[in-house]
Amino acid sequence: MDAYLLDWLQLIFRWLHVITGVAWIGASFYFVWLDNSLEEPPRWKQDQGIKGDLWAIHGGGIYEVAKYQLAPEKMPETLHWFKWEAYSTWLTGMMLMILVFYIGADAYLIDPRVADLSRYQAIAIGIGFLAGGWLLYELLCATPLARNGYLLGAVLIALAVVTTYGLTHLFSGRGAFIHMGAMIGTIMAGNVFRVIMPSQRALVAAIEAGEAPDPAWGAKAKLRSTHNNYLTLPVLFIMISNHYPMTYAHPHNWLVLLAIIAITAFARHYFNLRHKGIQQPWILGAALVATAVLAWVIMPERAPAPAASEQQVGAAQVQTIIHERCASCHSASPSDDVFTVAPAGVMLESMAQIEQWAPRILARSVESTDMPFLNKTGMTQQERNLLGQWIREGAGE
Ligand code: HEC
Repeated sequence: MDAYLLDWLQLIFRWLHVITGVAWIGASFYFVWLDNSLEEPPRWKQDQGIKGDLWAIHGGGIYEVAKYQLAPEKMPETLHWFKWEAYSTWLTGMMLMILVFYIGADAYLIDPRVADLSRYQAIAIGIGFLAGGWLLYELLCATPLARNGYLLGAVLIALAVVTTYGLTHLFSGRGAFIHMGAMIGTIMAGNVFRVIMPSQRALVAAIEAGEAPDPAWGAKAKLRSTHNNYLTLPVLFIMISNHYPMTYAHPHNWLVLLAIIAITAFARHYFNLRHKGIQQPWILGAALVATAVLAWVIMPERAPAPAASEQQVGAAQVQTIIHERCASCHSASPSDDVFTVAPAGVMLESMAQIEQWAPRILARSVESTDMPFLNKTGMTQQERNLLGQWIREGAGE
């Protein structure tokens, strides 16, 4: 596909994905907060079947919210459902996955340093993980395991470990992280589609028929919403992780990803408790400390690397390396087949430009080996060391 057209399609679907994602997660945060913040209503409301009462002010108006034990005596004419936010987030996300990672499999998904897959192998494996992960999750939730939330949780965590390891040993760091995120997102949207919506339909149908709703539905929906609740923050992190090579391009990127999933899910726990009036600020403190520890553990080698060369590295040498390894993408008119506009606006043609970007070149090409992109231009370790030496010696100053 024409690269310019592809860029526009990606822009449009990324934009839509962010909008729908904000709407989904915003509504979901709001209802979790609402449910946990309800107070006992006064007697006269209880007599009408209201079990939770809440008052709020927003946008210049005061709102009164009532949650019914079951339903009002007469079902209202308009009952608002929240499902399209979830479905459209998933659909736009899948489109984006196709546009970036499947059409651009060679550029984004396959890293020959990790596994030398063909395009079709890589795409099939990617789809296999998304569909397989969701099916396995559904199967597990249908077993007696689901009766014990903690046990099921433990099995799911073990599966997440295996999956993360597998993905990072098949795909580029970016590709692996985004597939983990898409898999979790698929499970979450699937929960809305397969369980939460049907359980609400069953509830409404039972009330309309004047029957008692089947409590089994309620229990299932509760389990799935709990999963969705704890998965929200991890999935949001994963969706922005592609900006941070220190995470996805780390040699042990699978452990980094697991650590971040654990920390962000734990941070969610603080908010869940807080809405219920239980203050446990140490949870947020612990999550912050854990993040700092993680940052420290994965910090790139700071000690000056063994000098790559006895002599000072010369500017001409640096310019040759950059010209050979970077300029095919990072120039005013790139010759690369995929990146036809200088990525991130970074042009590395003149010495002034190279000096301007020196700290980022150090971060992306020396401290991590994330640039050249998937080492497309075959940069050697010796060249990285030379660049590192030159920048650490003051970048030609
Ligand atoms: C095959 C194309 C390609 C090649 C070759 C390439 N890059 Fe990049 N570069 C990208 C893309 C795509 C982005 C934007 C996405 C991103 O930031 O990860 C980028 C972004 C960057 C950024 C800006 C982001 C930041 O961290 O500030 C820097 C700096 C960079 N590259 C340096 C380099 C250096 C140095 C080389 C050569 C050693 C190089 N790149 C070679 C494709 C390439």
